[in-house]
Amino acid sequence: MCGIIGYTGSSQALPVLIQGIRLLSYRGYDSAGVSVWREGALHVRKDPGRIEDLAPSWDPDGLAGTTGIGHTRWATHGVPNRANAHPQQAGETTEDGGLVSLVHNGIVENDLALRETLEAEGVAFRSDTDTEILAHLFARAFQGDPVAAARVLLDRCRGQFAVAIQHRDLPDTLIAVRRGSPLLVGLGVRENLLASDLRPLVGRADRVMELGESEIVIVTPDAVHLFDASGAAIERETRAIDHTERDTGKDGYPHFMLKEMHEQPERLYELVAGRIDPEGRVLRMDDLGLTDEQWRSFERVDLVAAGTAFNACAYGAYLLESMARIPARALMAHEYESRDPVLDERVLVIAVSQSGETMDTKIALQVALDAGAATLAVLNVRESVIGRMAGGVLDMHAGPEIGVASTKAYTGMLCSLLLLALKASRARCIADAPIAEIAQALWALPDAVRTALERFDEAAAAAQDVRRADHMLYLGRGPDAATASEGALKMKEISYIHAEGHPAGEMKHGPIALVSREMPTVAIATAGPWRERMLGNVREVRAREGEIILVATDGDPDAAKLADFVLSVPATHPLVAPIVNAIPLQILAYETARRRGCDIDQPRNLAKTVTVQ
Ligand code: F6R
Repeated sequence: MCGIIGYTGSSQALPVLIQGIRLLSYRGYDSAGVSVWREGALHVRKDPGRIEDLAPSWDPDGLAGTTGIGHTRWATHGVPNRANAHPQQAGETTEDGGLVSLVHNGIVENDLALRETLEAEGVAFRSDTDTEILAHLFARAFQGDPVAAARVLLDRCRGQFAVAIQHRDLPDTLIAVRRGSPLLVGLGVRENLLASDLRPLVGRADRVMELGESEIVIVTPDAVHLFDASGAAIERETRAIDHTERDTGKDGYPHFMLKEMHEQPERLYELVAGRIDPEGRVLRMDDLGLTDEQWRSFERVDLVAAGTAFNACAYGAYLLESMARIPARALMAHEYESRDPVLDERVLVIAVSQSGETMDTKIALQVALDAGAATLAVLNVRESVIGRMAGGVLDMHAGPEIGVASTKAYTGMLCSLLLLALKASRARCIADAPIAEIAQALWALPDAVRTALERFDEAAAAAQDVRRADHMLYLGRGPDAATASEGALKMKEISYIHAEGHPAGEMKHGPIALVSREMPTVAIATAGPWRERMLGNVREVRAREGEIILVATDGDPDAAKLADFVLSVPATHPLVAPIVNAIPLQILAYETARRRGCDIDQPRNLAKTVTVQ
């Protein structure tokens, strides 16, 4: 969580910092701040709120200067207020007088002990943050050598952190240190930058370098000096930045979420066309680092992830077990380590993550690596922490996702996992795996998704109705149990309606008690082996006067009779259907949130990338 940006060069720093904060706001957006060196002092502006509202009040004259750092926050230690916003300062008491300004992404785990020690030494804290500890430690350790002072942070602080620092006595200098949380250095012409991800660097820097684990970097407009944790100078290769890597405009859409939903047909096409031919004869998966022999030797697959990615894992586990005949289970990444899973090289652990940065997923993957299990990551950002850890990476090719509620990454995950299950089925010689039928359906998938998106009005009509609901139920069976969970997650994330997703078979065992006229039920009952039984559940809800929103295949003879609202989708293979069925549920959540006046791209309390446990 939290985004860091730093700039030193020949241009004014403030506009670069504001733009960087804007581009990093998906990482957290409850407060923001900047520090700029001007005329021998560090000038800080920071407040709770969104960058769009804060930046107009940051006077360019007071903040005129060519070196500065900026931050966008997702609160962990202390409520979002001015005192807790970053930059945190140390050394003096006024906002325009500190010796040190420091911004931080991550968590200092031994913060309480460090705070006590510093207080005993006479430090007066002005915030509730763990970040302020870092600022004081750096300020007190600095004797003219920033590398030595940065080493003190590595020596004394436990946990995961990336920090960018300015010292009043080093006018054109940024100092950064990293353990766990990501930080990039962007190299330009007479200017250099720091950033939590690539977006703020694209279009500004020509080359990029990643700060390694426990490394320190000193950045000036003309030079970047890298040091290891012992303070020894080290060298690192840089890579050229591909200027198409950033895609940050809304392209005329009112929200990123809507834009990203509409990108799905194109994204899915690229993913499918890159991996499989229309007859399913050729499956291009050699880059994953898994041989057919390994696929045959696996005795179990554990899929680990969080949130939307966990829902995708539930679908993936279903496919791997039912089609490729490998025992497979989806597990929430944050629960993985504590169950002490039985692992060895006969187990494949698949980490699924849009960002590739989710701390819970990263830790689960580390558990697998430590135990000698085979590992694979399904990612949207190949060059990410998880991407570098995993034995192989399957890139879902969804393109940058900015809206906090995941849409195109979810369908990208489903499609990737389906391709993987096809590969596993072929490698394991499963004679009756429907590889050719699914290949055909995958090639038709972009059009099916496009058609589902064109049916916007059907979901919008249902949204007009459910917008007043306080509670909703989502039901699905087989691989669509995952769709139900994901539909409910989308609804609660952006509309703040309490929504529960359940496998429909579970209804009678409890959730049916909730059904009433006031609680709409979304039932996914598209064509396939589960449809009949789903319709049985629908009848049970109707018998209790519950309202039904039914996701049904075109031409379903019973849909209109059983449902208050039908969300129709084109016919496809039942195992591909969950990818298409996700679309009307995305629209339903979007249109409901819009009608309720919610902040769709930046829902309350959430962040796009969760880099803390
Ligand atoms: C929901 C959503 C989150 C993420 C979760 C994991 O719309 O986006 O639930 O799925 O935080 O994030 P990644 O996929 O980046 O590991």
